[in-house]
Amino acid sequence: MTSTVITGIGELVTNDPARDGLLGLVQDAAVVVEGGRIAWVGSAADAPDADVAVDAGGRAVIPGFVDSHSHLVFAGDRAAEFSARMTGEPYTAGGIRTTVAATRDATDEQLTGHVARLVREMLRQGTTTVEIKSGYGLTVRDEARSLAVARQFTDETTFLGAHVVPADLEPAAYVDLVTGPMLAAAAPHARWIDVFCEDGAFDVDQARTILAAGTDIGLRGRLHANQLTYGGGVRLAAELGLVAVDHCTFLADADVDALRDAGTIATLLPGVEFSTRQPYPDARRLIDAGVRVALASDCNPGSCFTSSVPLCIALAVREMRMSPAEALYAATAGGAAALDRDDVGSVAPGKRADLVLLDAPSYVHLAYRPGVPLVAGVWQGGRPVH
Ligand code: NIG
Ligand code: FE
Repeated sequence: MTSTVITGIGELVTNDPARDGLLGLVQDAAVVVEGGRIAWVGSAADAPDADVAVDAGGRAVIPGFVDSHSHLVFAGDRAAEFSARMTGEPYTAGGIRTTVAATRDATDEQLTGHVARLVREMLRQGTTTVEIKSGYGLTVRDEARSLAVARQFTDETTFLGAHVVPADLEPAAYVDLVTGPMLAAAAPHARWIDVFCEDGAFDVDQARTILAAGTDIGLRGRLHANQLTYGGGVRLAAELGLVAVDHCTFLADADVDALRDAGTIATLLPGVEFSTRQPYPDARRLIDAGVRVALASDCNPGSCFTSSVPLCIALAVREMRMSPAEALYAATAGGAAALDRDDVGSVAPGKRADLVLLDAPSYVHLAYRPGVPLVAGVWQGGRPVH
């Protein structure tokens, strides 16, 4: 088995709780990779020999980003909707139906090609683990094939048949379809089940019914909640003890307390607020109250068409009062926790060797130099992929 030592790392972010500080920083570090896993982490001066040596040249190395929320399986384009929004139109969930029509018309090959392009785009920006949802098919056939496509790219697949009610069905009939034949067709391809719990999508009772149907057959639940308006979705997520609830823009104090007490992670998606001109969620309030947070892209054609976790980190720091360290942690270890994964999101012996080399002396540059392509190298499972 070939081993590789990456040496000359000016600053290594490990997220290892056995080390100091939130990020477990090691200065003048080295990492040894073997068989796709991290084999050794420490000071460059103590690094063991390996078959191959790579010199980081004093630059920073961080764990690969874990993007725990994306909607990559779709066809079509909604640039005109974005343009209208930037000149005063509000964002509504209704635009989802435009993408549904285009997705139903696309072939499997077109959908696969499109996801491949976006996953590649993510990889080049340092994302080595991505969750991918369905939700633009909304028929038994189209939800199942969306997930079959997603599964070619990730183990973290999420059935989101409950995205909106399609125009040709009554809500009650659609909930029956989602919890019946659609769930049965989707489940073999999915790890998670999600519901868009919001005015204009699904209410709390419907969300409860749909999540129960999924968890009854072994899927894990997650939720979109409190994105556009205040509602009971976040409270439901905490009550059900879900691993994560996503968006969390409009919260009462009782929601914050419920998240903390349940240990449910609040996944914040600042690219959405950037692209919809909505208020940003208050990360500082959540963190100060003891709620765990994750950061993810929510890459989708409507509310946020960015695949860039570095952009989300910069927005979280600038607009959501997170420190650069908190934002990076949320986009790596936080994302891993939101997917209930302990093999990614940190750099320690035994973890998957997902590493990102930055063209910068410190991780702080991710927020300090917004919009600059700083990712100089990416290893996924020990393989150089960029
Ligand atoms: O996470 N909130 C619901 N779904 C997506 C938006 C989907 C769309 O507008 O196409 C989101 O923001
Ligand atoms: Fe989403």
